[in-house]
Amino acid sequence: MDVVGKVALVTGATRGIGQAIAARLKDAGAEIAVTGRDEVLLQAWRDQGVLAAAADVTDVRQVEDVVQAVVERYGQIDIVVNNAGITKDGLMMRMSDADWQRVIDTNLTGVFNICRAAIRCMLRRRQGRIVNISSVIGVAGNAGQTNYAASKAGVIGFTKALAKEVASRNILVNAVTPGYIDTEMTRALTEEQRVEILRRIPLGRTGTGEDVAALVHFLVSEENKYITGQTIHCDGGLVI
Ligand SMILES: NC(=O)c1ccc[n+]([C@@H]2O[C@H](COP(=O)([O-])OP(=O)(O)OC[C@H]3O[C@@H](n4cnc5c(N)ncnc54)[C@H](O)[C@@H]3O)[C@@H](O)[C@H]2O)c1
Repeated sequence: MDVVGKVALVTGATRGIGQAIAARLKDAGAEIAVTGRDEVLLQAWRDQGVLAAAADVTDVRQVEDVVQAVVERYGQIDIVVNNAGITKDGLMMRMSDADWQRVIDTNLTGVFNICRAAIRCMLRRRQGRIVNISSVIGVAGNAGQTNYAASKAGVIGFTKALAKEVASRNILVNAVTPGYIDTEMTRALTEEQRVEILRRIPLGRTGTGEDVAALVHFLVSEENKYITGQTIHCDGGLVI
């Protein structure tokens, strides 16, 4: 799947799914730029010659600065993977304003911030691939995750609208909806919740960052010429 020489910006790539996506695209020959919040992990990327910036996706100024830094270094942006995301779970009745807002700001507004900053570059060059990491929770819902589900469902609507907006410029925009992927994010679940989720996965195992990265790799590659505006589950059959 050809991404050789393409310039890819992956947000939240210091660990978990984002790290797996960035590593896979780098191995496949793309020039990589990553964002994250952990300085030590960012430095590990820099040691591999990667542009790694501490940028909060909720901060418009920081987002614009990182996009500018990528363009200054590589001259273009061909691929954007919006992966940064958080959970702040709790029953809706007791959810604080702060927990609601932080999740919407990071998972939904963060995607808008990055896309708006990066799209000009793609429009000029009349090519681009954007993948937004949503979640099966945005499709199926989950008790205790109203903020997360709303943000991830928002990402799916955003993806469809943007795909229509920029299709004439050969920019393909898709959403990937992981199921239960074994990362720091899901390690917060109790053993009981883990067993219950496993029971519902037809393929009988949790996913890995690499499982998601393989799908993203295809969607952003030259081989994908005709898939846009889609929401593709990567969940072992959890939501069918
Ligand atoms: N793990 C799963 O089972 C699962 C399932 C469905 C969807 N997802 C989604 O996949 C994405 C990655 O999840 P993960 O499991 O690797 O989580 P993770 O917590 O391991 O990693 C999240 C990354 O996002 C970054 N991040 C968080 N807030 C940020 C902000 N404001 N600005 C910049 N970076 C920020 C973190 O620094 C980290 O690098 C998220 O969008 C998540 O919602 C994960």
